[in-house]
Amino acid sequence: MEPSETPLNMLAWQIEAGADEAIGEAPINRYRSPAPVDLPAPPPSPAAAAPNPAATAPNPAASPPNPAATPAQSSFPPPSSSPSSLTSTDTIAKSAHDLAAAATDLAALADALARFDGCALADTATNLVFADGNSNAQVMIIGEAPGADEDRQGLPFVGLAGQLLDRMLGTIGLDRSSTYISNILPWRPPGNRKPTPNEVTICLPFLRRHIELAEPKILVLVGGTSAQALLGVTQGITRLRGRWHDYPRHGIGSEASSPIPAMPIFHPAYLLRKPGMKREAWRDLREIRRRIDADFSA
Ligand code: URA
Repeated sequence: MEPSETPLNMLAWQIEAGADEAIGEAPINRYRSPAPVDLPAPPPSPAAAAPNPAATAPNPAASPPNPAATPAQSSFPPPSSSPSSLTSTDTIAKSAHDLAAAATDLAALADALARFDGCALADTATNLVFADGNSNAQVMIIGEAPGADEDRQGLPFVGLAGQLLDRMLGTIGLDRSSTYISNILPWRPPGNRKPTPNEVTICLPFLRRHIELAEPKILVLVGGTSAQALLGVTQGITRLRGRWHDYPRHGIGSEASSPIPAMPIFHPAYLLRKPGMKREAWRDLREIRRRIDADFSA
């Protein structure tokens, strides 16, 4: 063994490359050819077979069955429709659109996402992170993508940034029983990297349908990635935050209807790094409270 190949060095190399978490007992050979159809399917890896107690526990707040309970896809990609055999992002996004449009309720949408094989992130994620909170809430909060804690638990915003988000919501009298929370991507990008434009394009039809089915009165777009993806703009969060925008309903599975007011706010992960920006964040939160009280309170 070369001196540079000590287990510690090799581990350090993997962490540097973004593999910062062990997600299975045994390595998975993702280059292996799929098993012939007439042979029994390969046994599931221990990681895939072992139930994740956090992910399988029912989530009483969310009204559809907790889709977090649906582990990310099988470790063995299906033979024909893997992302690489499809011709372009647009083709995959079209199939995402068709699948999402066919879902007539949130449980069906979560199921469709769990079966969708067009996004490679599902192969590296531990759990699908669909949503948390109250799907009948007036306020729907959309973040960027799950991090390590969210991936482990199958729920959005449960790590440090999520705890700050909970405190931010608390300052305007909201919590997970009065909001519904999801993300632009339902699977964790390895190493918590930013979602790529292709990943966003591919997953967006599911989120648009998600919004359509949940029918929130107000959208809170947490961070620049969320605001840019849903508003179809390129400006940064500093320019977008603090004023109302129209989220256009696209009519994925039903008729397009009037836009939904959407407020972009700073991401709590950013506020953890830049606490000096909290003053602006509180201002935006107060505006959200004002709008709820003025327009939507019974
Ligand atoms: N950051 C996000 O944008 N979403 C999560 O669910 C967690 C952290």
